[in-house]
Amino acid sequence: MFDHGKIERNSVLMLIGILIVVSIGGLIEIAPLFYLESSIEKVKGVRPYTPLELAGRNIYVREGCYNCHSQMIRPFRDEVERYGHYSLAAESMYDHPFQWGSKRTGPDLARVGGKYSDEWHRTHLIRPRSLVPESVMPGYPFLAKTALPYGDIDGHLSANRAVGVPYSDEMIANAKADLEAQLDPDSDGVDALVKRYPGAKARNFDLKVGPPSELDALIAYLQVLGTMVDFSAYKAEENLR
Ligand code: HEC
Repeated sequence: MFDHGKIERNSVLMLIGILIVVSIGGLIEIAPLFYLESSIEKVKGVRPYTPLELAGRNIYVREGCYNCHSQMIRPFRDEVERYGHYSLAAESMYDHPFQWGSKRTGPDLARVGGKYSDEWHRTHLIRPRSLVPESVMPGYPFLAKTALPYGDIDGHLSANRAVGVPYSDEMIANAKADLEAQLDPDSDGVDALVKRYPGAKARNFDLKVGPPSELDALIAYLQVLGTMVDFSAYKAEENLR
């Protein structure tokens, strides 16, 4: 049908031909992604971060913890035995930007939630070598002394909503109240907080009285990592054991 000889002897014609053929493949792969609402399978239990956890995540990003810690357990036996169930795409679907990381000077943190007590985190973040003498992690003692600036936390929720996190108007309107309620387990606001964010834990995370500190927020964030999905209900893990 085509005069192949002509195309093969003329590099410009060949180049145009290649571009046409390659772009057909590209279009078929890429175009549908613009029409799909989400290419991530939803998983039960995964919810947007509470305002306090989100504030903690902001501190995690600000301090560059991702330079030494990944948050993605790969589906290999050694990783699963050390850290727990491999990470699911849905577990980081509300992370903007995601914190998968590519450097592991320290361990992966995708499932660090619940592994240690709040007190352990408090001591470790202030002076890592008081708990792990050989640690090369820097201390962050200033977090305990710095009041958490959260006057603009509703704006952070709105910004996340703009990129697809399903924060409702109610969540945004109550962001400040929810942040305070999560640090005060005896307050009336805890019920409303848990209703909006199922499974949210309210505690005084930094174990100190006083206004919310940056340490409060960071520990609340670390303690929720990897805890949203109930893997006891999952069979997939058995494939790797
Ligand atoms: C210079 C690299 C480095 C940076 C930056 C760093 N860490 Fe670490 N981190 C480590 C190392 C190494 C360990 C393992 C030794 C230890 O437990 O201290 C560790 C351990 C940890 C652990 C315990 C993990 C476990 O499963 O035992 C947590 C939690 C943690 N880091 C949180 C943080 C947070 C939060 C930040 C940012 C505020 C941070 N790290 C910044 C190197 C780092």
